[in-house]
Amino acid sequence: MIRPRPRILVFAGSIRTGSHNARLAAQMVQALALKDAEPTLLSLGDYAMPLYDADLEAASGVPDGARRLAAQMTGHTGIFIASPEYNASVPPLLKNAIDWVSRIRAGAGEPSPWRGRVYALGSASPGAFAGIRSLMHLRQVLELGLGATVIPEQISVPSAATAFAGDGGLADERLAARLETVASRLIDEAARYVA
Ligand SMILES: Cc1cc2nc3c(=O)[nH]c(=O)nc-3n(C[C@H](O)[C@H](O)[C@H](O)COP(=O)(O)O)c2cc1C
Repeated sequence: MIRPRPRILVFAGSIRTGSHNARLAAQMVQALALKDAEPTLLSLGDYAMPLYDADLEAASGVPDGARRLAAQMTGHTGIFIASPEYNASVPPLLKNAIDWVSRIRAGAGEPSPWRGRVYALGSASPGAFAGIRSLMHLRQVLELGLGATVIPEQISVPSAATAFAGDGGLADERLAARLETVASRLIDEAARYVA
């Protein structure tokens, strides 16, 4: 039986020039493309949204950037997020985007950005903790806050300033293998859903 190639959205929770998490996201795209998946890489920089403010929402509704991001999310059955760690938690750029998207009320029969698809997480940090504490919080936000399914496998890259080789690949063999494991499980799970 021919298995459909799942569409997988990949983005980083950083728009910083030279972002380590953007590099991790790019590596995930490459791993997914070499396996049986159709990855889409996006930058949150192309989905600008103001800091969430309930008064702003009441006056102007959900911003266009959040609606366009939600449309990308519902167009894919797998989503990989590479998140930096800020003060042991999720950075505001990413949390703000999630919060705005969570304000979109899906009508009857409309797809949800959270349910009906599967998430996988990664992090990269110049520090030794590799951003893992950010992922603990991000997992909680997605699973407990939004009812999303997040696969247990995740990848956290420590010492990120030196972790990526000249070709962009992960220099450490075990981390490179971990990336493959996360990609494979994400594809397997995403293939269960229909976009
Ligand atoms: C406000 C702030 C708080 C930070 N807190 C942490 C932290 O708790 N743990 C950590 O490993 N790195 C922390 N960092 C460093 C980030 O991991 C580092 O800036 C990283 O490069 C951000 O990801 P990026 O390269 O994808 O932009 C912090 C950085 C900022 C700006």
